[in-house]
Amino acid sequence: MHVPILDLTRQYETIKPEIDAAIQRVVESGRFILGPEVKEFEEEVGAYCRVKHAIGVASGTDALLLSLRALEIGPGDKVIIPSFTFFATAGVVHNVGATPVFCDINPRTFNLDPAHLKQLFTHYPSLVTEVKAIIPVHLYGQMADMDEIMAIAKEYNIAVVEDAAQAIGAEYRTTSEPVGSSQLRVGRTGASTSESASPQATDHKPQAYKAGSLGNFGCFSFFPTKNLGAYGDGGMVVTNDDELAERVHILRVHGSKPKYYHRMVGVNSRLDALQAAILCVKLPHLDAWTAARQRVAARYDELLQDMQGIEIPYRAPDRTHIFHQYTIRVLNGRRDELYDYLKEQRISSFIYYPRPLHLQECFKELGYRDGDLPQSELASQEALSLPVFPELREEEQEYVVKAITPFAKEGGDSGWRKS
Ligand SMILES: Cc1ncc(COP(=O)(O)O)c(C=O)c1O
Repeated sequence: MHVPILDLTRQYETIKPEIDAAIQRVVESGRFILGPEVKEFEEEVGAYCRVKHAIGVASGTDALLLSLRALEIGPGDKVIIPSFTFFATAGVVHNVGATPVFCDINPRTFNLDPAHLKQLFTHYPSLVTEVKAIIPVHLYGQMADMDEIMAIAKEYNIAVVEDAAQAIGAEYRTTSEPVGSSQLRVGRTGASTSESASPQATDHKPQAYKAGSLGNFGCFSFFPTKNLGAYGDGGMVVTNDDELAERVHILRVHGSKPKYYHRMVGVNSRLDALQAAILCVKLPHLDAWTAARQRVAARYDELLQDMQGIEIPYRAPDRTHIFHQYTIRVLNGRRDELYDYLKEQRISSFIYYPRPLHLQECFKELGYRDGDLPQSELASQEALSLPVFPELREEEQEYVVKAITPFAKEGGDSGWRKS
């Protein structure tokens, strides 16, 4: 049996008539860029994420890039990001002319570690003025420790741009309110943006907030393999801040407002109508697909939890995990061996990500060395993502687990933890 890491054709089969009709409607309308389809999708994502503004852009990478541009982050500025993430998170920081500062991760959640974040400011006091934003990444579909991160950002008056590319629909329970942007220092002028919700802890009962709705900006990717995937590239910026939303609107069309008049230089980053129409069909199914992923994950948990040398994903109690990836840790240096072994069994697994960003060649001038961010380095050696998607069949999943079982046993009496 061949088990794919993801099979998008199965999803298409379940919604084919709706998708085909949406594509036909757009083609017949003759309107392909922005327009009513994009507006409708923006409104639906805004309502789904319970945010004031949702702005469709060309990709998740551009969503991050335009958020940083809207915050006027550029040369001379620094942005803190986790080292263990997809490259885009760091690439956009470099591409606006700023410098990434890499933070280590919490080994349980694989997400930015607030304790290390705090240490960065105490060990390197100049960061207090140099850092203009923090980008927590909600890796694999579970949100980062937002209460702690927001509190640190508030203390230093730093913007938070949530990289929610892998986490649409994930929730986080907190008594704090979304940050909006009150008093946020933006750009070189240090001007505050418009008043919105405040980031203070309140006496409110805990409420669930969607990924992307807690920071100054939330950024989504609709890359086809994402939980809400287009049939091409697409992305979205969400925010509760009117002024920042207006800047992103202008920046995505070359900085033009009114048309052909430019107060700033933007980029061409528009969501196209075909993708928006497809995504409008898919969005109402998202919660059911998430529930199906969670069932697959729960089954893996049950079947894998006692296996030697494997750690199943940690689920933080105050948040949901939407399992964009089901990522185990393979201990004792045997991850690559298991990856190869599964491949021999015709089971696709993936290594997200084999090299932490602080050790990437393109950032060597920043001077990071092996051992600087030990948890990010260890995760890059141990993380292995197994097939997870709503249409994964039970027998396929059992086949995956059966393949892992003898491999785990090979570790001997003390299993994989022998070393
Ligand atoms: C964590 C993370 N950030 C950013 C991106 C960039 O999104 P896109 O591929 O849509 O540009 C992705 C997805 O690929 C991602 O996984």
